[in-house]
Amino acid sequence: MSELLNVSGISAYYGGIQALRDVSLRIDEGEIVSVLGANGAGKSTLLKCLSREMKVRRGEIRFDGKPLPAKSYSVVEGGTVIVPEGRQIFTKLTVWENLQIGCCLRRDRDGIARDLERVYAMFPRLKEREKQYGGLLSGGEQQMLAIARGLMARPRLMMLDEPSLGLAPIIVSQIMGILTEINKTGTTILLVEQNARKALSISHRVYLMNVGRIVREGDARELMSDGALMEAYLGT
Ligand SMILES: Nc1ncnc2c1ncn2[C@@H]1O[C@H](COP(=O)(O)OP(=O)(O)OP(=O)(O)O)[C@@H](O)[C@H]1O
Ligand SMILES: [Mg+2]
Repeated sequence: MSELLNVSGISAYYGGIQALRDVSLRIDEGEIVSVLGANGAGKSTLLKCLSREMKVRRGEIRFDGKPLPAKSYSVVEGGTVIVPEGRQIFTKLTVWENLQIGCCLRRDRDGIARDLERVYAMFPRLKEREKQYGGLLSGGEQQMLAIARGLMARPRLMMLDEPSLGLAPIIVSQIMGILTEINKTGTTILLVEQNARKALSISHRVYLMNVGRIVREGDARELMSDGALMEAYLGT
């Protein structure tokens, strides 16, 4: 499989506080890779660096064999999209308008129309609520809208920051199922989660983070069977 993302020795700071320490990871095309870790481990900071929302102090990020562009919108144009922590949908815009924002950098009208159909087929609930304000959706529906909006950019790599946060177990299972389906249609996925078991159940490979560092890397099934490790790092 060909390498899609390569992160090599990056560090990042909030003022004088170092939040990422020499972080390296790689994702091959077609994989689902999870980054797991407790509160404050640096997971969101990593995604902020990968979406160029935050500056990297050292190290290098390569996407599809080339240096990752420096500007956020160029990263999206290049095929990487983030589904942010807390969904961040536009509450005063309709479902349809939120989806349009997802594809605002695209010009291929026919492709956009096809992707809208595809997204509505995947999320029938969003089609039903097309004209409703985003703020009127349930938490689960808002998460689905955030994922659907990300898909409208037609990403090669989709990065999600804790999509399970605050949602009922049955909705979380639904969302994990949808991510598997998205992956099967050719989108590579980087999933950041505190919900280790759910994330591991759909992932091929996993990285564990602790206080700004990657402390372990491995096959998802292997890690899941390591009870002591799961308890030590993930409290499960
Ligand atoms: N805006 C900020 N200003 C200063 N420090 C920050 C800021 N955001 C995060 N940090 C610090 O950086 C470290 C990493 O935080 P980060 O949000 O990346 O962790 P996380 O793994 O995403 O945690 P969580 O699971 O709670 O979302 C923490 O020590 C945190 O306190
Ligand atoms: Mg976070």
